[in-house]
Amino acid sequence: MVRRRLRVNERWHVVDVPDDTPLLWVLREDLGLTGPKYGCGVGACGACTSLVGGAAARPCVLPVSEVDAEVTTVEGLSANGDHPVQRAWLELDVAQCGYCQPGQIMSTVALLARVPEPSDADIDEALRDNVCRCGTYSRVRAAVKRAARDRGPR
Ligand code: FES
Ligand code: FES
Repeated sequence: MVRRRLRVNERWHVVDVPDDTPLLWVLREDLGLTGPKYGCGVGACGACTSLVGGAAARPCVLPVSEVDAEVTTVEGLSANGDHPVQRAWLELDVAQCGYCQPGQIMSTVALLARVPEPSDADIDEALRDNVCRCGTYSRVRAAVKRAARDRGPR
């Protein structure tokens, strides 16, 4: 066990875990942040997508010892679910079962931070590895565009 400090959702946390523990386990089991979902565990499905240093990352394959920047999970976007991306998701009723949606949302937040007005190709590229078993892809794309519009120029 190694005692380490992690900054998550604008708060410092102290956790006592082995170096090779995937960040996803720390988020879900130690910090109680269950927004990031476990899907594949091999970095392939996107269900766990969260931000590390503002960029989209896959915490299921990221050892906690390699986390060197602030982590943001879907819980950290807003206190009331009113982040522009979350609002767009609600307005367009994107979710079906919902399991993949925290990852879709976090990939979108990372995309819009890089590309404020993404094209269809930008969206497809950024969300290519966020798998949705319910097939919500067209609503996801529409919601990304709605969120980009509502955020306004950056
Ligand atoms: S659970 Fe992390 S990418 Fe699938
Ligand atoms: S909404 Fe069910 S897996 Fe995407």
